[in-house]
Amino acid sequence: MTPQNIKTVEFEKPNLGAEAQAEAGASCVARAWAKVPPALTPNERSALKTRIKALLKARNAVLVAHYYVDADLQDLAEETGGCVSDSLEMARFGRDHPAQTLVVAGVRFMGETAKILSPEKTILMPDLDATCSLDLGCPADQFAAFCDAHPDRTVVVYANTSAAVKARADWMVTSSIGLKIVEHLHAKGEKILWAPDKHLGSYIQRETGADMLLWQGSCLVHDEFKGIELDLLRKDHPNAKVLVHPESPANVVAQADVVGSTSQLIAAAQQLDANEFIVATDNGILHKMRMAAPGKHFIEAPTAGNSATCKSCAHCPWMAMNALTNLAEVLETGRNEIHVDADIGRRAYTCIDRMLDFAAREKARVRPVADLAKEQALFGGVGPA
Ligand code: 13P
Ligand code: SF4
Repeated sequence: MTPQNIKTVEFEKPNLGAEAQAEAGASCVARAWAKVPPALTPNERSALKTRIKALLKARNAVLVAHYYVDADLQDLAEETGGCVSDSLEMARFGRDHPAQTLVVAGVRFMGETAKILSPEKTILMPDLDATCSLDLGCPADQFAAFCDAHPDRTVVVYANTSAAVKARADWMVTSSIGLKIVEHLHAKGEKILWAPDKHLGSYIQRETGADMLLWQGSCLVHDEFKGIELDLLRKDHPNAKVLVHPESPANVVAQADVVGSTSQLIAAAQQLDANEFIVATDNGILHKMRMAAPGKHFIEAPTAGNSATCKSCAHCPWMAMNALTNLAEVLETGRNEIHVDADIGRRAYTCIDRMLDFAAREKARVRPVADLAKEQALFGGVGPA
């Protein structure tokens, strides 16, 4: 990598230390980096896609992609019998698919989750340095100290964390099922220690009324959506429905018609009776939204709008590291395999399996009535804010 291929990424990092975590807003600006994949000509893209299809077959591998990665990778996943989905479905699909090799196009925690659920499989990723500001903002040792300071609380962590953080948790949740799981724990009288996303945590707290102590992490993409500007945009588009990922700030979530995971937002775009949508999540999702709801119009929710930095571009710099070039390379060489320490993996498995089990039971419970309202109730995070 030459310096031109590297960009600096700024994000809000919580002030570390158990005491500081309990204080809302205790954070500082931290710097990380991301690689910028090379630009390709249409001919190069098409040749790489053909090669990747052949390599997936030859390796008996399946591609599991997230909605925020490059559109070509999303299409390849679908065209080759893999899947493109939200984090919950990526985990479930990878676990249940018979292929011995999974190629996970997304960020590192997604590859680690696949490995923890299927330690016997080979998990490859286009770039192992594709990380997440939530993961970076929640180091395992600091998190363990936070948990030690609050032993009376049930530890619930978001999927966007390292394997070592998950190893310390009672439950892992994704954005599609977090609200339902916390509702369930709250009904049992449990007090929650939540990490790392403060916005998702406070959204769930407001919705459930649960007693939640929040780690102060945030997603560098969603943290940038602006409530005041969104309000102005809605006035210009009075008929538009507003779709919001719950990693967004409270004043953005408050204006949502639907709050949900990436899959849930795509389903809403498809199913709601509207022609125009304002979308507050990573703009990589628009590829699938347009395919799922042809003829409908999608507008990106406003950020601070400084295109000179990556901070406000509404596209995750680490998801963007997944490209046709490095995907072809890992399939050819077998490099970039994900490894998770066996002991950490075993401990992390329990909290992930608990979530998948809970999701399967919820699905069985609501499936018999196949209408939209019930489908939405399945994950609880979907519906008016
Ligand atoms: P979903 O589980 O909703 O796809 O979210 C993953 C993520 O990283 C969002 O920023
Ligand atoms: Fe993490 Fe945000 Fe990127 Fe999702 S979009 S992977 S939460 S930095």
